[in-house]
Formats: sequence, structure tokens, C-alpha cells
Amino acid sequence: MPGGPAATGGGIGGDAPKNKFAGILMTCFAAFGGILFGYDTGVISGVKEMKAWLCQFGDPTDDFKRWPSGCGISSSTESLVVSILSAGTFFGALLASPAADYLGRKNGIIAACVIFCVGVAMQTGSTAIPLFVVGRVFAGLGVGLVSCLVPMYQSECAPKWIRGAVVALYQWAITIGLLVAACVNQGTKDRDDHSSWRIPTALQFAWAVILGGGMLALPESPRWYIKRGRYEDAAASLSRLTALAPNDPIVELEIADIRSNLKAEEDLGESSYIDCFKNTKNRIGLRTWTGILLQGWQQLTGINFIFYYGTTFFKASGISNPFLITIVTNVVNVVMTLPGIWAVEKIGRRKLLLYGAVGMCICEYLVAIIGVTVGSDNVAAQRALIALVCIYIAHFAATWGPIAWIVTGEIFPLNVRAKSMSLSVASNWLWNFAIGYATPYLVNKEAGSAGLEVKVFFIWGSTCLGCFLFTYFFVPETKGLSLEQIDMMYTLAAPLKAGPVRKRLMAEDIHASDAQAFQKVDGVHSEPDEKV
Ligand code: BGC
Repeated sequence: MPGGPAATGGGIGGDAPKNKFAGILMTCFAAFGGILFGYDTGVISGVKEMKAWLCQFGDPTDDFKRWPSGCGISSSTESLVVSILSAGTFFGALLASPAADYLGRKNGIIAACVIFCVGVAMQTGSTAIPLFVVGRVFAGLGVGLVSCLVPMYQSECAPKWIRGAVVALYQWAITIGLLVAACVNQGTKDRDDHSSWRIPTALQFAWAVILGGGMLALPESPRWYIKRGRYEDAAASLSRLTALAPNDPIVELEIADIRSNLKAEEDLGESSYIDCFKNTKNRIGLRTWTGILLQGWQQLTGINFIFYYGTTFFKASGISNPFLITIVTNVVNVVMTLPGIWAVEKIGRRKLLLYGAVGMCICEYLVAIIGVTVGSDNVAAQRALIALVCIYIAHFAATWGPIAWIVTGEIFPLNVRAKSMSLSVASNWLWNFAIGYATPYLVNKEAGSAGLEVKVFFIWGSTCLGCFLFTYFFVPETKGLSLEQIDMMYTLAAPLKAGPVRKRLMAEDIHASDAQAFQKVDGVHSEPDEKV
């Protein structure tokens, strides 16, 4: 083991202030992928309502109530155009694993931008539904890849003391992308020609070119190099991220830690998808399920009910300017992610997830109770409803929004990281699709639908209770640990008992490459091979 630097805190970047910023800025840049994610998911709701788009892709209709422009599309085409993106994103997230392992994290993101651009070109240039839909699939593949690769790249490259905040920036970028899409749609919707929908659609090129072009200049993840046995490249990459010499003791210790952690994993053999679910000493199966379920619970908070159906919901609740409210909810989402970025390194992931679940649960039950008891004709009730929805979004934005991505970026060991993470992100998109698809059937009053209307918030309130219980039993605190120390923590204790182990790992700065590492933490944990 390279000697010397144990007291520096390890982790990429160590603790020396002069080294702090080089790597951080680089990994922050990757957050730009969030803009692509947020904008692309947000833009379609406006585009598909624009007159020029409807008259190009739909048919004339005299149902002026639903289609004031005189052109409309069938419900099945509408749902195809909206939901096909989720199909693309789901498969894109699954493809992220081979892309991350074979191309690398950085090159995977660049390839995703190219695929995304192909999809945007198809949509911008199309004159009929089939090409537009295929374009949505390609764009979805790109978004799905990016949504997995960006937090993976950031988690692997950021210094441990600020890793959570760096990944939270990615969530912040998602919220900005959603807001920008709403504003651009609003700005172009009244144009009479095809520029009304082609401008917001083509603007996506800009996000992909900035992200892909910028990534070209960034280093590849040192952990990927180590996984490929390219130790000199790993040292060079770490040296760029830390602004230290490749042979600096801090860099050497970091490399030794990653190598020894990976070796322990690889001694067990080549890992397959089945291995992601095995109940190993370091609880890989539990960790994969934690990632998959955490992402599912994030969607089950009901957040996209507001972002996908907010305008319709507020209209039905008697609120006169639903578009304005939609912009307000988006602004709350952007602004309230900022305290989350700060809090995740101060308060920690686990506490924030628990707190966020309680806050959202209370707001959602109150919305449902006020909606059911007072009704939508009462102005005071409408105001209370808007305020509560905004407080609910604020809780999501500061907690479950960023932290679901942070935790899935950091809980997996290197040998299965790409696979387990891509399965977790695919779960996010699957639930995203399922909830988006099911919502009209749950909420609408038409025949064949459940007609829950505002009562649907009883469901979201109850799922937030589920979020709380899930976090309590399955999500350990990971703040302040290196990715390799997180692996040690899982080996030494089940999530519910991991607190003291984490404290000891941090207090004594115990490294994975230290042959005595496990003995050092002995006494605060149950047996390393204890089954979950
Ligand atoms: C979620 C998206 C959601 C967005 C809202 C993300 O973390 O995964 O589904 O639309 O946050 O800010």
C-alpha cells in the first residue's frame, strides 16, 4: 500500500483546498446531461398541442372543445407520441450497462448524444407521424443512456466529500430543462407556421452538442480505466481530476483502494446480470434491489402527475390560469433543488429521504382532504391547493429528486456498477411510463376510468408512506464515504445497523487497500458474512 497520505481523507481530490476545484468543475459539467433529460421529457406536452403540428400530423376536426385549432389527433396517436419516449428511455437505460463497460462512461455519454441528435433530426424534419415516432424512440434511447451514464460518471469522478452535491446538480439541470421547455413552448406556441414546433424540437440539438462536445474535453472515469486494467491511464485521469501529479501519494492510494476493492470482487469471477441479485458477503443482491426500488419509489411519490398532468388538473380544479401555475410549479422545482444540493452533504441522504417522504405525505393528504371536503368552487380552497402542491414539490425537489440519483450512483460495487445502475434507472423509466399511462384512467370521470379526480392524492400520500418505510429499512447513510468504503460498510453491516460502521470508517479513515481494514472496524458490527 502506498504510504503517507492516509490522513488526507482519501477519496478523489483528498481534502487539500487547492485541489478541490479542478475535478469538481469537470464533473459538474456532466450535469448538463440533465438539461437534455428535462427538456426532452417536458417539450412534447406543448408541441403536441400546437396548431401547425396538429394540422401537419393530425386531421381536421370539428371538436373545437378539445381541439380549438380545428385539427386534432386520435387518443391512440397522442398516447403513442407521448409514451414512446418512455419505451426508448427504458431500453436506453438498459443499453447503458454495455455502453458504460465497453465504450467507457465518457464515450458512452458522447455516443448517447449522437443517437439523440439522430432522433431530433428525424422529429424536426418529419412530415408524418411514423418518422416522428421513430425520432422519439431514438431521442428516448439517447435520454435513457444519458440518465444512467451521467450520474455514474459523476459519482466515479467526484471527490467523496462533495459527490452527493455534484450529482444533485444533475437533478438541478433536469429541473431547469423542464422549466426551459415550458418557457420555449409558451414563447413559440402562437406562431402560425411550422417554426412553432420546429424551434422547440430543434433546440435539443444545442443541448446534445454542448454535452457531447464538452465531454470530449473531460477525462474518462479512473474507475473504468482500472476495471479495464489500464492503471497508467487511471493515474493520468485522477491526476487531472485532482490537479495532483500521477505519482502523488494521494493518487496512488486512491488507485490502490479501487484496485483492491475490484480485485476482491473479481476473485469471485466474471459478473453477470444474475450476479447483481446474488446474496453475497457484500450484499450485492440487496443493493441492486435497493437501487431498483428506490427509483421506483421516486416515481411513486406522484411527482410526474404534476409535471405531466398539472395543467389539466389545475384546470379541472377551477383554477383560471393553469399555464401560469405550471410555470410556478416548475420554478419551485428549480429553486428548491438548491437547498437540497447543500443539505445532502450537511444532513445526509438517509435523513433527507425520510424527512422528504413525511413532508410530501402530509401535503398530498391535505390536498386530497381539502379537495374532497371543501370542493373546487371555493377560492380559498383553490389557493390552499396550489400552495400545498408547491410545498409538496419543494419537498420533492430538495430530497427525493436529487437523492434517488445520488444513492443509485454510489451504492454499487465496481464490478456490477454499470449493470445494477442501469437496471435501477430502467426501473425509474418503467414506473414513469406506468404512472403516466395509468393516470388518465385513475383520474378521469369518463366511462371505464376510476374517476378519482382529486382523490388520487390519497394514493400519492400513501405511496409516500411507502417511501418512508422503504428508506427506513433499506437505505443506509453514505455521506462522506468513498465508493470503496461504501462497499466495506455493506459488507460489515445491514443497512439498519450501518450507522456505527460508517462513523468508524470515517473517523479512522480506513481504506479498502489496507490489509487490516476489516479487523479495524471489528467490534462495531455483526459478522462480515452475516446474511441479510
Ligand atoms: C425524476 C423525473 C421528474 C423530475 C422532476 C427526476 O428526478 O426522475 O421523473 O420529472 O425529477 O424534477
